[in-house]
Amino acid sequence: ERKIIIDTDPGQDDAVAILLALASPAELEVLGITAVAGNVPLELTARNARMICELAGKPETPVFAGCDRPLAHDLVTAEHVHGKTGLDGPDLPEPTMPLQDGDAVDFIIDTLRAQPEKTVTLCPLGPLTNIATALQRAPDIATRIQEIVLMGGAYFEVGNITPAAEFNIYVDPEAAEIVFKCGAPITVMPLDVTHKALVTSARNEAFRALGTPVGIAVAQMTDFFERFDKEKYGSDGAPLHDPCVTAYLLQPNLFSGRFINVEIETRSDLTRGMTVADWWGVTDRAPNAMFMGDVDADGFFALLTERLARL
Ligand code: BDR
Ligand code: CA
Repeated sequence: ERKIIIDTDPGQDDAVAILLALASPAELEVLGITAVAGNVPLELTARNARMICELAGKPETPVFAGCDRPLAHDLVTAEHVHGKTGLDGPDLPEPTMPLQDGDAVDFIIDTLRAQPEKTVTLCPLGPLTNIATALQRAPDIATRIQEIVLMGGAYFEVGNITPAAEFNIYVDPEAAEIVFKCGAPITVMPLDVTHKALVTSARNEAFRALGTPVGIAVAQMTDFFERFDKEKYGSDGAPLHDPCVTAYLLQPNLFSGRFINVEIETRSDLTRGMTVADWWGVTDRAPNAMFMGDVDADGFFALLTERLARL
């Protein structure tokens, strides 16, 4: 069993990633969920995270609010993808479970210090502001992290918020730079992977056919989210980005990639937030990340549907 902290900006795809983790208690112990500003402002991501825990029937999950803005820039949000609330689609009740007292960043630091070394995995699904702030405030935690498995970046698939950058890295490149340089083992799910994990109509119908509140809500979430991507990319359906992170923890063999050097562009106006990934090994820069490139999409959706059925 792996102990994890999910750092997130829900987001319909974040929501599905959280549901997948909460549906898998034999393999994953969710120590806490830390909200960060990203797809929508912090107040909404902290609210949405609690709505998802309640939907999963796990209102005892500790949810903390963290940073409300990136380290060095103004917040950029993505209501054009996720809707006004960040979780448009299903009609979920306002949460009644409490938001924990205290700061998400302190929770991350305290948890890493309290648990045995290298037994806690961090799962960032949004901008990396909370994680970078924790590393800045408490540099000793870097060697205590078991692994950081994050959704962010792109190589062949380049950008979805600018021509060069993926949203999570673009929103806070300074934070991403701190995380990619921290020395902990890092596994990355970039757009190259997530754009292969498309919710086709048949896959969405499989969620709906579960007939449970969770199955129906997930179908409604991906329906909403899909609207944007279908119009924009004409793809078979929306890429289900963030659940790739939690699926990797359950079934790593669904994914393949390369252990390479990844650097973050923070200075150029044109390419800010670009993940400069040395896929072909053309530099002598030391590898710092397992950068995934492919996923068995049928296996991924089979896992997801089977697990969501348990909630
Ligand atoms: C990432 O950005 C957000 O909109 C999604 O939740 C995902 O984490 C994809 O670029
Ligand atoms: Ca996200």
